[in-house]
Amino acid sequence: MTNLGNSKPVSSNQSAVHENLEAIVTKHLYTTDRTPIPDFVHDSFELMRKTLSQTGLPLWLDSFCGTGISTRKLAEQNPNFCVIGVDQSEQRLKAEPPTELTNCLLIRSDCDALWRLMAQHNIQAQRHTLFYPNPWPKASQFKRRVHGHASFKALLQISPNLELRTNWDIYAREFAQALTIARRPTELTSFIPKEPITRFEAKYIASQHRLWRVCSTTSP
Ligand SMILES: C[S@@+](CC[C@H](N)C(=O)[O-])C[C@H]1O[C@@H](n2cnc3c(N)ncnc32)[C@H](O)[C@@H]1O
Repeated sequence: MTNLGNSKPVSSNQSAVHENLEAIVTKHLYTTDRTPIPDFVHDSFELMRKTLSQTGLPLWLDSFCGTGISTRKLAEQNPNFCVIGVDQSEQRLKAEPPTELTNCLLIRSDCDALWRLMAQHNIQAQRHTLFYPNPWPKASQFKRRVHGHASFKALLQISPNLELRTNWDIYAREFAQALTIARRPTELTSFIPKEPITRFEAKYIASQHRLWRVCSTTSP
């Protein structure tokens, strides 16, 4: 990521929220996803449980953490949390030197399947951040977005405090609308970070993209 200020805005064949959003989200909220969970996700789940029990701290889950820069920052700033960053890319997770923070862990896993396992075992994240998930900008890719996926129900079950950031206004509006369909309190704002919390955020700021944040809090 050398050319920091060179990022193009998201381009999509959608000019508004997806026309099937309400039907798809509602279907997922009222059905159980029985897709088998791969072995490597079971392994990462056990590692998560072990770490939580060793630290005795509440969980802050940082999904789609990429190289884990946000995970490290959150762990430094919040010593009373065990901050666990999750990404599917081994390469990204290994891009930065390992951290010495005892309340910080990066794990390779699939977020969708991991959230489902957490929901099945009632493992709660007191905080859950999702910084710049892949936008999947084509309308036909809607079901790959966080709120279009069958795992959206598990995402809601595992945390009372959610924050999602994106540089695509339609994604933010869709996520907010999906939360509202699920009867979660929702706050959608445009924001300017004091300093970037992730690499993608740094790239988007340098490229003068407008940034969006969707928060949902059901307990302090
Ligand atoms: C656009 S990058 C954002 C990374 C980081 N949050 C940032 O802002 O710099 C999206 C990340 O999501 C990861 N990812 C995509 N789908 C995933 C999944 N189902 N489970 C885990 N990680 C996933 C990718 O490997 C990638 O690192």
